[in-house]
Amino acid sequence: MVNKQQINVCPATEESCREAAALLAAGKLVVFPTETVYGLGADAESTDAVQAIYDVKVRPSHNPLIVHVNGVAMAERYAVFNDSARLLAKRFWPGALTLVLPAKNNSHISELVSAKMATIAIRCPGNHLALDIIGCFGRGVAAPSANRSGRISPTSAAHVLEEFPADDERIGMIIDGGPTAKGVESTIIDCTGVKPTMLRHGTLTADDIQSATGVTLDAAVTGEIKAPGMLASHYAPTTKVRLLAERQEDGEALLGFGEAMAGAVTDADHALNLSPSGDLAEAAYHLYDYLRRLDAMGCERIAVMSIPERGIGVAINDRLRRAAAPK
Ligand code: TXA
Ligand code: MG
Repeated sequence: MVNKQQINVCPATEESCREAAALLAAGKLVVFPTETVYGLGADAESTDAVQAIYDVKVRPSHNPLIVHVNGVAMAERYAVFNDSARLLAKRFWPGALTLVLPAKNNSHISELVSAKMATIAIRCPGNHLALDIIGCFGRGVAAPSANRSGRISPTSAAHVLEEFPADDERIGMIIDGGPTAKGVESTIIDCTGVKPTMLRHGTLTADDIQSATGVTLDAAVTGEIKAPGMLASHYAPTTKVRLLAERQEDGEALLGFGEAMAGAVTDADHALNLSPSGDLAEAAYHLYDYLRRLDAMGCERIAVMSIPERGIGVAINDRLRRAAAPK
């Protein structure tokens, strides 16, 4: 029997970035690290390549993608900036901020990227490998998180390999840039209305944005799904998740936080602490890796201790609620 080709996992070098750009130009998908999570990238101007993203992820076609650019100049080929969008991009790009903007007419972007909507989500990632690939490629790279739809986002190359068949020929390569620095997906702000609106919380918080730019954000209207991907069940392990746990019950794995974990743990072999010192940035960094590790233990449930609903804790709790939502 002939061995099937395995997905090529490459080190984080300049040569890998050049190869990635060549593969994108040839219509292949490329997995690359950003500062938030790993992305499954395709040429945003190729409908066939973008369709392959939806197919590989088994992603509903109504859930649009983020286009990754290497700066405002490239973004302006695809999107129309108003004053607040310009201010936010100037202050926070490259970085973990996605802006939803009116799509430019007659740009070459595939209409599948925005799921045929008149807006486009765009971001300039704060990771030099990602920026090198985009710069070398010279066009926008459409990239969702590199996981099967509904599952936990990958924060390492090893996580990506857990998500897709090793012989999937549509994925040209995976660039291994080590664990991602931030650990949860970018903050998404809708700049298409009168006032910028928070669509998805991330490690860049509404307070960070207000104190750095004076821009105050409206909260998205509850119940209205303005970012179509913000489905109730998302970021989900296979194991059931129980939130606000005060104590690890029999048969449970425990995802703890802070010093309070000492009083909650009953089976230390099946317990991990997101941050013993109670640091929310550290907790975000570990969140998806620890959820995957606890999921792999095969316990009946994953019990999660409460995380403070402030700062980065707002994004962590958002992901945890979706991880716990009925599928
Ligand atoms: O940090 C991140 O943003 C990562 C890395 C790879 O950049 N990407 C990411 O992509 O999280 P994804 O596809 O997993 O999530 C994109 C979110 C979805 O909730 C989608 O519905 C929303 O962005 N989105 C995309 N285009 C949109 C648009 N035009 N209007 C509103 N929401 C949009
Ligand atoms: Mg995702």
